[in-house]
Amino acid sequence: QGSPTLAVIPGDGIGPEVTAEALKVLEVASPVTFAPTRYDLGAERYLATGEVLPDSVLEEVRGHDAILLGAVGGKPNDPDLPPGILERGLLLRLRFELDHYVNLRPSRLYPGTASPLADHVLERGDIDFVVVREGTEGPYTGNGGALRVGTPAEIATEVSVNTAYGVERVVRDAFARASRRPRKKVTLVHKTNVLVNAGSLWWRVFEAVAAEHPDVTTDYMHVDAAMIFLATDPARFDVIVTDNLFGDIVTDLAAAITGGIGLAASGNVNPDRTAPSMFEPVHGSAPDIAGQQKADPTAAILSAALLLDHLGHPGAAAAIEAAVLADLAERTTGTTRRTSEVGDAIAARL
Ligand code: NAD
Ligand code: IPM
Ligand code: MN
Repeated sequence: QGSPTLAVIPGDGIGPEVTAEALKVLEVASPVTFAPTRYDLGAERYLATGEVLPDSVLEEVRGHDAILLGAVGGKPNDPDLPPGILERGLLLRLRFELDHYVNLRPSRLYPGTASPLADHVLERGDIDFVVVREGTEGPYTGNGGALRVGTPAEIATEVSVNTAYGVERVVRDAFARASRRPRKKVTLVHKTNVLVNAGSLWWRVFEAVAAEHPDVTTDYMHVDAAMIFLATDPARFDVIVTDNLFGDIVTDLAAAITGGIGLAASGNVNPDRTAPSMFEPVHGSAPDIAGQQKADPTAAILSAALLLDHLGHPGAAAAIEAAVLADLAERTTGTTRRTSEVGDAIAARL
């Protein structure tokens, strides 16, 4: 086996800035040399050519061992870039086509990292949980439509798609993950009191898979109540399994309580390995700070660690995490470093 191949999609806004640092760290931390191929997908290409993700490019990307993505999307309400074109046509298309049904989003409050939570909340225990967000179904499938647009009689629908197959495989992944973690607990987050069709399916699958895992403790929370507990007692969570849209929302709050969106990493994982998995920070293209070397590349760097772990290099992944931990411990409020300086500092520790 030669060098693992890596498709790199830096994307838009701060995407290229943070991806450069992730690659810098990957180069020094990885026990294997990656052969990266860069794909210039994103707003610039779309505006120049009208192309979002040509089929031929998708097939090329599919041929790699893993994908590293920065961020995609433009400024809100840009008249030249209708909302959703890149988000749906590029990011979600990759997640769907490559069957990334586990959108893995770990949240840990590293020692010394500032959290907006009050001391009495933090004293309840360590924050160390992982959200297993379903990645291929739910309201993200584009199932719905708009009728009589622009008239007073307009009707817009987005139908959430939940299949027994799709729910079962992600719930199984969550339980398998929990079994390997010290606290062995899975919390289902849904809204079974209102979304009764999808909620019933999720609940029945959850109960059935739980019955096969007597070693794993279970809990259920409606998504609104989960927001309360994330803010008041986040130490109670170990593995959270939830649908695509709830998972999107839960993980931005999870990022905010564990040091901010600049630290939150994610993996769009195809656990069956029928296609490459894709690793990216949870944050977006941050047009408000793009091009100024102000973005924190830590989330992208930790996403590269998830990539290494996925490709069978847990030691190198742990080394990156340790380097980030050490860097975080020395970050002092008031001093600001450029994006590349943060990447340099973390790389230097490896
Ligand atoms: P965002 O995550 O881009 O930004 C939200 C806020 O967080 C902004 O104030 C931004 O400056 C800040 N921020 C984000 N990343 C940061 C970092 N690494 N360091 C420091 N600050 C950081 O979310 P948004 O403003 O809602 O979306 C902007 C664009 O990104 C939209 O087009 C959206 O669709 C897209 N988006 C893409 C992804 C992705 O590619 N995975 C994720 C979320 C949003
Ligand atoms: C994320 C983003 C995406 C999502 C958007 C840009 C499609 O917010 O990765 O969290 O909603 O999944
Ligand atoms: Mn999001």
